[in-house]
Order: sequence, then structure tokens, then C-alpha cells
Amino acid sequence: MSQPVIVQKLTEDLVFGSLPHTGKQTVGDICCGVGHHSVLFALQGFHVTGIDINAIAIQRAQKNKLKAQAAIEAAGGSLAFICGNVLEDRDISATVGKFNILIDSAAYHCFSPVKKSSYVRFLTSLSHMGTRLLFLNLRITDETTGSGPQTCSREEVNETFTQSDWQVDVLEDSVYHHFPMVGEGGPALYALLSYKSKN
Ligand SMILES: C[S@@+](CC[C@H](N)C(=O)[O-])C[C@H]1O[C@@H](n2cnc3c(N)ncnc32)[C@H](O)[C@@H]1O
Repeated sequence: MSQPVIVQKLTEDLVFGSLPHTGKQTVGDICCGVGHHSVLFALQGFHVTGIDINAIAIQRAQKNKLKAQAAIEAAGGSLAFICGNVLEDRDISATVGKFNILIDSAAYHCFSPVKKSSYVRFLTSLSHMGTRLLFLNLRITDETTGSGPQTCSREEVNETFTQSDWQVDVLEDSVYHHFPMVGEGGPALYALLSYKSKN
């Protein structure tokens, strides 16, 4: 499902107000899963690329795209999916270019503190000055191990992004819905960030 917070922010002027919704506005849905947010933005006329490491998720995303294809075209949008590892595939940014908007819905919290630095470098490689990042991640403060969510706190978000030339414009408590490990909804952090450097 699309996250209600992301649907709400999309319809408020936080995204459209800061980026004129004309011409070819590009969106990168990072760690897109089955592509719910990719489809949501493509249906609004954006040109969207979803990226995920999980080939099965990408196959399901392609099916979701097919179901929405006619409506996406009618809206003037487009949608493509790429199977890749955002921590290791150096050439993804060379292939897809830079985006006006990036979406991180439950990606950042997947990575350990060390990997988060590589992850933010990856986001930066897809950004130009003014790129906006729509961020929604579970607010987790206990260090965990294994493949489950890692840490995600206000302090960490502020630190990891500001040291890479991102400005945190909004950072507020929110909810991530229907995450299997935490049930119906988990406390989350919503952030809107802007990339502030020439890249
Ligand atoms: C919790 S899901 C979030 C999916 C989607 N963004 C959403 O909100 O519904 C996290 C996603 O991150 C992907 N992922 C984890 N590590 C990744 C990596 N290194 N490169 C690309 N995708 C990764 C997983 O395959 C999974 O689809």
C-alpha cells in the first residue's frame, strides 16, 4: 500500500509547491519494493524510476505498472523499474541520471549506521542542487542485528544528511502503516530534505 503520509504530502503543496508541476519532473523511488509509490507518482504525471535489490519485488512492481499503464500515459507520466543494489552498484546513477524528487519510504532504516553513509552517498549521486527527498522511515532507537530494521532517530537523520550537504527542511513524528514486523503501524519519522550543493 502507499503510505498515507506520502499520499498526503503529495497532495499538499510540499512537493508541488516547491517544484513546478510542469515539464519533465523526475522521481527516483529508492528501494521501491513492489512500486506502490512509483505508481502513485507516475499517475500524477511524473517520470518515475523505481530501484530495488529484490528481483521478485521488481517483478511485482512491473505487474503493478502494467495495471496502471493506461492511466499513467493519460496523466503524461512514465515509469521504469531497475533491479539493483543501492549500496554497491556504482553505475546506477550513470544509467538513470539525476532526479528532481527522491522517495525513501522505509529504506534508510534498513541499513546499519556504517551502511547509511554509503546509502546517503548513493542518494547524493542521484541529486542536483535543489533535489528534494521525501523521507518516511520507522523511528527505531534500539540497535538491532540481522536483516530487520536498524536505527533511525532524529539525531542520526540530521547528522548523516547534513554532513553530506543535505538540508533538513522538515522533520516530524509520523507513522509507517502495515509494516509486518510492527503490526498495523509503527512510529516513524517524516522528513523533507533538499540537496544544497552543486553535484
Ligand atoms: C521495507 S521495504 C520498503 C518498500 C517500499 N519503499 C515501501 O515503502 O513500500 C524495504 C525495501 O528495501 C529494499 N532494499 C533493501 N536493501 C537494498 C539495497 N541494498 N539495494 C536496493 N534495495 C534494497 C528491499 O528489497 C525492500 O523492498
